[in-house]
Amino acid sequence: MSLVKRILTGVAIVVALGVVSLAVALSYDARCDVAEPLADGGHTMSAIVQRCYGSSEVLKLERIAKPQIAEDQMLVKVRASSVNPADWHSMTGKPYIMRISAGYGRPSRIHQGIDFSGTIEAVGKNVTKFKVGDDVFGARGGAFGEYIAVNQSGSVAIKPANLSFEQAAAMPVAAVTALQGLRDHGHLQPGQRVLINGASGGVGTFAVQIAKSFGAEVTGVCSTRNVELVRSIGADHVIDYTKENYTQRDERYDLILDNVGNHPLLDIRRVLKPAGTYVIVGGPKHDPWIGPLIGPIKAMLLSPFVDETMLMFIANTNQDDLNVLGELARTGKIMPVIDRRYSLSQVPEAMSYLGTQRARGKVVIDIEGAGLEQQVSEL
Ligand SMILES: NC(=O)c1ccc[n+]([C@@H]2O[C@H](COP(=O)([O-])OP(=O)(O)OC[C@H]3O[C@@H](n4cnc5c(N)ncnc54)[C@H](OP(=O)(O)O)[C@@H]3O)[C@@H](O)[C@H]2O)c1
Repeated sequence: MSLVKRILTGVAIVVALGVVSLAVALSYDARCDVAEPLADGGHTMSAIVQRCYGSSEVLKLERIAKPQIAEDQMLVKVRASSVNPADWHSMTGKPYIMRISAGYGRPSRIHQGIDFSGTIEAVGKNVTKFKVGDDVFGARGGAFGEYIAVNQSGSVAIKPANLSFEQAAAMPVAAVTALQGLRDHGHLQPGQRVLINGASGGVGTFAVQIAKSFGAEVTGVCSTRNVELVRSIGADHVIDYTKENYTQRDERYDLILDNVGNHPLLDIRRVLKPAGTYVIVGGPKHDPWIGPLIGPIKAMLLSPFVDETMLMFIANTNQDDLNVLGELARTGKIMPVIDRRYSLSQVPEAMSYLGTQRARGKVVIDIEGAGLEQQVSEL
């Protein structure tokens, strides 16, 4: 064997070993850690904690230390939260590729939940934007608990007074995703035709309403049982996917916002206008390695060879967009659709329900009543 061949063989073996080692490390599920004892006399709160990856049984209601605030943070007493597919991914640790940042074997961050609404109970000495007593909503890791520490410049905004805490907690991730998908990535203009695939879910129910508020002509795709719901939130046309495949119809769209990712890209291209845009929000979850990233990877490969724009994005929950959504809610242009309500201790059930991918609008968590703040010494 020539020297070059030997070197190439050696490199191939090293690469193969590297890939196998990474695959083993990524797919390894460590056993659940045991909770560490809490410091005597420290303030505690009830929260949902996850010490390993798995199904909803890994989510436990525990007493953990109440967060302490820094000088530019606020302590929010959480009134409500809501569950998102992102929480489901954090719970299962799938697709495995996400464990590179979420933690190998077990999650590096044990306190779950993202969406919250609540009331500011204390502020750090540098906080100027908010005050004690303000009702707020936002997105921050650790929302499945009685308290959360939030940076004043983080993803937090004043809660619209016409929304309940549950309604406000339904908004952050799902509504910001819908807004950014339509406005920033889809560049939706008044009078344009937009199709929203998965119009009855968390993101879809906001997307239908936001697209209408932009003056677009909206088509929603959902199953038979959700046709009336999607129509009631403003869709001009509704396609029942159990009866018709939207990619095989004659209509053409300026923008397709896809929360489901269940059709081949070439079929989707058929129903896009020339120079139309296809925005991937979500995709099938069955592949344990890269899961919903399969569609975006295919779109990235196809995109340079076609006139249409095909892209995916990860929503960035931020204060400006929460304010935009707060204003849309205040003026009645959007109203969260709430499917089911669960208590804090029922977060595992809420996650199981979300995992069926049959939620109609949002699944919310009522945090109040979870238990009052206690001192460890009192327990
Ligand atoms: N890119 C991002 O930053 C980002 C942010 C948030 C969410 N996401 C992703 O976006 C996707 C949607 O999120 P979500 O919160 O809306 O999820 P969700 O609330 O769990 O979606 C459930 C809805 O999906 C509908 N659905 C299921 N199969 C469908 C199909 N074949 N055709 C049309 N609709 C179908 C269901 O309606 P039926 O019962 O009528 O089928 C149900 O109403 C998820 O994959 C999520 O991971 C991405």
